[in-house]
Amino acid sequence: MEGLRRLTGGPGTADRRAWRECRLALEASGLRHTVLGPRRSGGLLYRSAPAMARALRLVGLHGLGERNARTPVLERRELALQALPAAFEGYRILHLSDPHFENLPGLAESAARQLRDAAVDLVAITGDFQHHWWVEPQAAVEALALLLDGLRAADGCLAVLGNHDGAGLVEPLEAAGVLVLVNEHAAVTRGGERLIFTGTDDPACFFTAGALSALEAAPEGLRIALVHSPELAQPAAAAGHSLYLCGHTHGGQICLPGGRPLVTQLTVNRHLARGWWRQGAMVGHTSRGLGSANLSVRFNCPPAMTLITCRRPA
Ligand SMILES: [Fe+2]
Repeated sequence: MEGLRRLTGGPGTADRRAWRECRLALEASGLRHTVLGPRRSGGLLYRSAPAMARALRLVGLHGLGERNARTPVLERRELALQALPAAFEGYRILHLSDPHFENLPGLAESAARQLRDAAVDLVAITGDFQHHWWVEPQAAVEALALLLDGLRAADGCLAVLGNHDGAGLVEPLEAAGVLVLVNEHAAVTRGGERLIFTGTDDPACFFTAGALSALEAAPEGLRIALVHSPELAQPAAAAGHSLYLCGHTHGGQICLPGGRPLVTQLTVNRHLARGWWRQGAMVGHTSRGLGSANLSVRFNCPPAMTLITCRRPA
């Protein structure tokens, strides 16, 4: 069958009901479940955000920071992938991450203007649709529909959850036509050849062994990992993934001139906090993200959407 479909029943594939029960328990625990084990929720940035916003207003920079945060950049990248099947030469993946829709009203409209009439093959979204995982998810789903309204995506939209997304977001997203992977696999098939996508649950705050099992059990094919953060780069590369798309860091969001992040929000792999990188034979991309967390401002770090065109090496 041509097009995008979930692969069910394979080894390492999560049982949806078991995953949901586990995820809800993690959400209720009040702890961050990281790749290095449980940690107390820090929340320092969250708690200090109002004071930082007041300080920025006082020095006259808040308006500029908010304008920056509302002005996404559509970046394009030609990416050579070893073993890309011939049927996927020129395959276009729009990588979006971290919209945090409710944190910055109007962002979806602003981004949609840039995407209007664009033609892509697949939209891949690496989490943080919401800003607060405990709020009603419908507003984020509606904002996503607005964002993608004028865009043509031949194979549809694939997504994973971020640390700001609740388990309750999966059903509304899927009802809106987004295929959500929670430690699962999907395939896009063209002309008898296929791309394999492994999508894990967020490893920054909701890490479980199920994420590693899914990476290790990826079926044969050119493997692409969708993970909220770069914290699973090593196991994804070891499991033979060719491409790893993630976000979570917002590229730092508030950076020094030149884009050097002050904060990465990463427990491990801080060196993979932004842009393009390599882990062994695997290429990775940590998106600067579309939205903003805590403070709705950005400095030296414009919000990004990335259009990747996959190429067979010359
Ligand atoms: Fe985020």
